[in-house]
Amino acid sequence: MTDDHVRFPSLDELRLRRSVKWRTYAEDVLPVWVAEMDVAPAPVIADALATAIDLGDTGYVHAGDLAEVYAAFSQHRYGWAPAPDRTSLIPDVMGGIAAVLRLVTAPGDRVVITPPVYPPFWSFPEHADRTVVEVDLRVDDAGHALDLDGLDRAFAGGAAAFLLCNPHNPTGNAWDRVTLEVVADLADAHDVLVLADEVHAPLTHPDVEHVPFLSLDRPGAQRAVAFVAASKGWNLPGLKAGLTLAGPDAPEVATALPDVVQIGTGLFGVIAARAAFAHGGPWLASLLDVLDRNRRLLGELLNTHLPAVRYRMPAATYLAWLDCRDLGLGDDPAQVFLERGRVACSPGHTFGVPGRGFVRFNLGTSPELITEAVRRIASTVEAARPAS
Ligand SMILES: Cc1ncc(COP(=O)(O)O)c(C=O)c1O
Repeated sequence: MTDDHVRFPSLDELRLRRSVKWRTYAEDVLPVWVAEMDVAPAPVIADALATAIDLGDTGYVHAGDLAEVYAAFSQHRYGWAPAPDRTSLIPDVMGGIAAVLRLVTAPGDRVVITPPVYPPFWSFPEHADRTVVEVDLRVDDAGHALDLDGLDRAFAGGAAAFLLCNPHNPTGNAWDRVTLEVVADLADAHDVLVLADEVHAPLTHPDVEHVPFLSLDRPGAQRAVAFVAASKGWNLPGLKAGLTLAGPDAPEVATALPDVVQIGTGLFGVIAARAAFAHGGPWLASLLDVLDRNRRLLGELLNTHLPAVRYRMPAATYLAWLDCRDLGLGDDPAQVFLERGRVACSPGHTFGVPGRGFVRFNLGTSPELITEAVRRIASTVEAARPAS
């Protein structure tokens, strides 16, 4: 029997990790920034990697049956299976997006993104000499939404591609089917290629539907390319493996990426991803239970200690997008929390102009560390308050 219990190493053990989350800041800083989780590995994945080490299976990557295994996972979880023969290995989602952009668009072409959004959505296209066009999310009392009129205008203005982030980092939205159908129709009407980043999809809470973009029976979706990985759901980003899924009408170059792109994939990444998609469902269910409790705990802690911070529970991801504008700490509250509270959140302004005055808080950790991080943040706000 496998143990699907989700375990968090102690703080002392976490401080031994060599990843960017734990090595960037000084020892006394609590890191709740970059999108890595503090979980111990899922036992099915640890076993698969241990077997590979025992075998000395440290050679060049081979995809094996990863595409078929992913298709079965997707069918079971989302009710739709991608075609394995239109699937390519990629080292990681952002590398895959950059590679596809280079193959299917030209220098100077416009790429639409929807801030606040994951900062590499600017840097990767710009590094490939593409021009980024921003269409901010709409926000009202009901939360964030894609600005479909804004997308229509941006597409009509001559966009080549749209980077769809679903689920959305940092707001945790899982875009609904009707919205995605409109996106597909707009893309079709204006001949825009949708690149759907679905890396956070396994982390969609069970009360919400994740709709794979390629599953939509719309021409704009059938020619899209999606990017998936086990890296977020099972915390494997350093192992380097993901997949592109090309729709039946996607540009031919996107259906089988060149070797030069695929070869950067890590064999351990493929082994771990295969174990995750084939056998990691029960562990993922336990993780989603933990993250559900964490997202509620954060709400309770903020209510009690930081009532001026506005927060809406994410429908997906382990990321919480905190509106700190009423704290009076300016555009970069993360800097204040870091300097005075020794807590590292992701600065909201790095997610675009709408992120000024916000921070992104990583809930992929233990309730104890969430509680301690909020306590520290609250103490910085307390210290900043003028004496009455
Ligand atoms: C929306 C989004 N896309 C891509 C990535 C990075 O994925 P990868 O490491 O596979 O490039 C992240 C990581 O946080 C992300 O949030």
